[in-house]
Amino acid sequence: MIDLDRIPAHVAIIMDGNGRWAQNRNLPRMAGHNAGMIAMKEIVKASSALGVKHLTVYAFSTENWKRSQEEINGIFKLLVLYVDKELKELHENNVKVRILGDYEKLPREAVKSLERTLKTTKDNTGLQFNIALNYGGRFDILRAVKSLAEKVEAGELKADEITEEMFADQLYTAGIPDPDLIIRTSGEMRLSNYLLWQCAYSEFVFVDVLWPDFTREEYEKAIEIFQNRKRRFGGR
Ligand code: IPE
Ligand code: IPE
Ligand code: MG
Repeated sequence: MIDLDRIPAHVAIIMDGNGRWAQNRNLPRMAGHNAGMIAMKEIVKASSALGVKHLTVYAFSTENWKRSQEEINGIFKLLVLYVDKELKELHENNVKVRILGDYEKLPREAVKSLERTLKTTKDNTGLQFNIALNYGGRFDILRAVKSLAEKVEAGELKADEITEEMFADQLYTAGIPDPDLIIRTSGEMRLSNYLLWQCAYSEFVFVDVLWPDFTREEYEKAIEIFQNRKRRFGGR
């Protein structure tokens, strides 16, 4: 049973396996992405209901630009559809949306929909739903380095004065606690450039189901596994 008093404050998910889900059914990859969106909606709802404070999902990586133009366009179209269709419900459920990553490089229509969503939900106080879009952990770190280097160059800061907290404040995740639990679906056991700085003490749960098959039950199972782990943070 899952202990509602010990729900992880921040769950980050690598939603992987859409393509294989479609392939298993002899469907085009987009059918998998579509099914993946439906799974994501359920996990957002479940997170609100369980009292998770932060849900962060990996929707598009800085490496995903290597895919076919057709698939990339399809993914962003689907994103616009999701954001426009779900905005009302997200807002009614007091969900605050935030984007991690260089989303301004996305097609204009996607940027517009996302910004509308950010603006509408900015004062909400329920679940914070962080969508990693055109996100890469190395890019995140490098961007933070550049921003601090500029302050040093400008004479506002001495290199020696830089602290972990200051560095974390320059990341896309500024103000968001580090993920307690990172879940990756589809059986792959790698981070694929996700939250590299932030995952220092995260618990990892790898599940074999493909993302479109990741239900609320699977989610609760992963949280239960997390709750049975012993976190030590280097202490004894
Ligand atoms: C995850 O599913 C979704 C994105 C990366 C956008 P994939 O599309 O990576 O699915 P597989 O890994 O090919 O099965
Ligand atoms: C990670 O999945 C990125 C997202 C889920 C958005 P990928 O499918 O892109 O990762 P690799 O290529 O298997 O490492
Ligand atoms: Mg994949």
